[in-house]
Amino acid sequence: MTSKNGAAVEVRDLVVSYPVRRALPNNFLRRVRSNEEYSVPALKHVSIEAHPGETLGIVGESGSGKSTLTKALFGLVPISSGSVSIDGISAGGRPIWEIPELSGVAQYIFQDPFSSLNPARSVESSVREPVRRLPNAADLAREALLSVALDPQIDGTKLPSQLSGGQCQRACLARALVSRPRLLVCDEIVSALDVSVQAQVLNLLSVVQAQLGTTVIFVSHDLAVVSLICDRVVVLKDGEIQEVGPTNEILGSPRNPYTRRLVASVPGARRALSGVQHYALGATPPWTDNSFGTELA
Ligand SMILES: Nc1ncnc2c1ncn2[C@@H]1O[C@H](COP(=O)(O)OP(=O)(O)OP(=O)(O)O)[C@@H](O)[C@H]1O
Ligand SMILES: [Mg+2]
Repeated sequence: MTSKNGAAVEVRDLVVSYPVRRALPNNFLRRVRSNEEYSVPALKHVSIEAHPGETLGIVGESGSGKSTLTKALFGLVPISSGSVSIDGISAGGRPIWEIPELSGVAQYIFQDPFSSLNPARSVESSVREPVRRLPNAADLAREALLSVALDPQIDGTKLPSQLSGGQCQRACLARALVSRPRLLVCDEIVSALDVSVQAQVLNLLSVVQAQLGTTVIFVSHDLAVVSLICDRVVVLKDGEIQEVGPTNEILGSPRNPYTRRLVASVPGARRALSGVQHYALGATPPWTDNSFGTELA
């Protein structure tokens, strides 16, 4: 599904290397004296595009560079070379919130919901934070909490540590959605949730995308979920793109040897992938509970 409201993302020839200080095992003195640094290339000349309103999946085994790629979009990791742009505006070189033209355009939901929320502030206060300067911030936060099936009067007043993992992830989603982003990056947001909460979160994403036309970049190990909700998919291995294409083609009948291994390595994935029918976020998914997420304006 495409929409004019979503942001366009373009990554060209991106190289990201992490500096690492050499640590020599079992030799503390040599380690302390050594200033030797070397670089670990995490992304090697990666180019991707996300079209406005589409859901782009990013898959690959652990350490393949998925989080590095999404963090690079938000300027959260140093870029060695290449370019990143969101809606044609150069990004990636510095944290996105320091770029005035992109203020409020994009939101990132991290894998670990507990470390994403301020542990000392109420859930409502964290959800309100992105819109705190707006006069109706409290109403927007309330609406966002309701849209993820959290009670503003009860759950909103709790500290993150007083929520379950699933509730906390939904609070992160509420915080990401409160400013009506045009680009939403989801890094493994459903991996830790049980199936029913996964369905709620995915259902909410589908509602959001239908209503706001948000571009979604969805990082996940769960190939069955990716095949359900992503229009296209990028397969990463060791920081390099193996292939990019429509999800049905890439995951439904994998031809690339690495993708085949990836699909084969997930128990039940082949069966799940061959049995599911792809539909875009915003179409009616099989888990739809019509009452869920309807509060979202
Ligand atoms: N801060 C860092 N310093 C040094 N190396 C890092 C750092 N963060 C990531 N790396 C390395 O970069 C590579 C890519 O890591 P990244 O976190 O992007 O992988 P990933 O695909 O998101 O993995 P996962 O599925 O486990 O989350 C890995 O080899 C990792 O060890
Ligand atoms: Mg990661």
